[in-house]
Amino acid sequence: MIAYENGTPASGAYQHVREQLAQQQYRWVVTGAAGFIGSNLLQALLELGQRVVGLDNFLTGYRHNLEQVREQVGPAIWRNFELVEGDIRDALACRRACERADVVLHQAALGSVARSLDDPLLTNDINVGGFLNVLDAARLAGVRRVVYAASSATYGDHPALPKQEPHIGRALSPYAVSKHVNELYAAVYARSYGQQSIGLRYFNVFGPRQDPCGAYAAVIPQWIAAMIAQRQVVIHGDGESSRDFCYVANVVQANLLAALGDQPAAANQVYNVALGARTSLNEVYLLLQELLVDRYGHLRDFQPVYADFRPGDVRHSQADIAKACELLGYAPTHDLRRGLRQALRWYIEQLDHGRRA
Ligand SMILES: NC(=O)c1ccc[n+]([C@@H]2O[C@H](COP(=O)([O-])OP(=O)(O)OC[C@H]3O[C@@H](n4cnc5c(N)ncnc54)[C@H](O)[C@@H]3O)[C@@H](O)[C@H]2O)c1
Repeated sequence: MIAYENGTPASGAYQHVREQLAQQQYRWVVTGAAGFIGSNLLQALLELGQRVVGLDNFLTGYRHNLEQVREQVGPAIWRNFELVEGDIRDALACRRACERADVVLHQAALGSVARSLDDPLLTNDINVGGFLNVLDAARLAGVRRVVYAASSATYGDHPALPKQEPHIGRALSPYAVSKHVNELYAAVYARSYGQQSIGLRYFNVFGPRQDPCGAYAAVIPQWIAAMIAQRQVVIHGDGESSRDFCYVANVVQANLLAALGDQPAAANQVYNVALGARTSLNEVYLLLQELLVDRYGHLRDFQPVYADFRPGDVRHSQADIAKACELLGYAPTHDLRRGLRQALRWYIEQLDHGRRA
């Protein structure tokens, strides 16, 4: 079971939104529902009694993620979910998914800076063309609000720390361009058609169901899988690069607040979604080692290996989350250690049990 609160009191605003959802059932579209963040959003919404249409083509998402959500919520609640298997590059599939929807949570995209450098055309087709299809389908269907996954990559080479929303630099990858274009289109749709939207610039999200496999996997799941399986952990650079790692429950919270928040000034804006803290890769490695070593004795003398810096990666990243706190009522419930503890429970169950079976 993925706990979304686990003892930490939710902010007043989040409490209010959850109570509102308990009273009223909306129809939500979650694009990318079979992916990491999408499947966590799907689970949270179903658990709150909502109706959800998922749109996914399983390019980087998995049917087993949906299976897991079904197991978690049970068959009765699962009936509130409908899957449209389709591609966001297909305008008709987007329109079909958005019919009668109240809110769209747009997560489908080709993630990863590195992948976008390897395949800029596909990145553009999905992240820009697909985004526009979803936004336009929402407009045609009269959707109340579109909340979309933007990215901290949009800060590019701007040197300021912590990152504040208005101050962005030059993009360092096609992925960063694509996510910035999303913001530009969202702003134009608000001005031209009155289509409400909110962009959430996620910073290095981690948690259950994040894919540990493949060349483009994020560091936390990749390292956890390597540490459990006694494979080499590779740190690109000297390990002193830092990131604002954010547990997925905080991202779920931000999406629900953005979707239902009723402060007029909050709409048609972009917000940082993170913890507001900075942790180096070396520190993350040591924290994982500390949290895993009792169970996996081989980690006591484990050492990472250091490789070249990766092109397109920024050196340091840390969010200023004041805007989301003030206008959305966002208050992260999980810091890095607490998020990792929860994520590790899931990875151990999936990877270790799978290994021993
Ligand atoms: N994970 C992070 O740290 C992070 C950081 C910043 C932004 N984001 C953004 O958050 C969103 C979700 O990321 P994630 O980490 O869950 O990635 P993910 O790859 O796990 O999920 C993306 C989902 O979108 C689906 N998808 C991809 N292309 C599609 C298409 N053409 N048509 C339909 N579905 C398609 C995939 O099959 C997958 O299920 C993405 O927009 C990503 O750019 C993620």
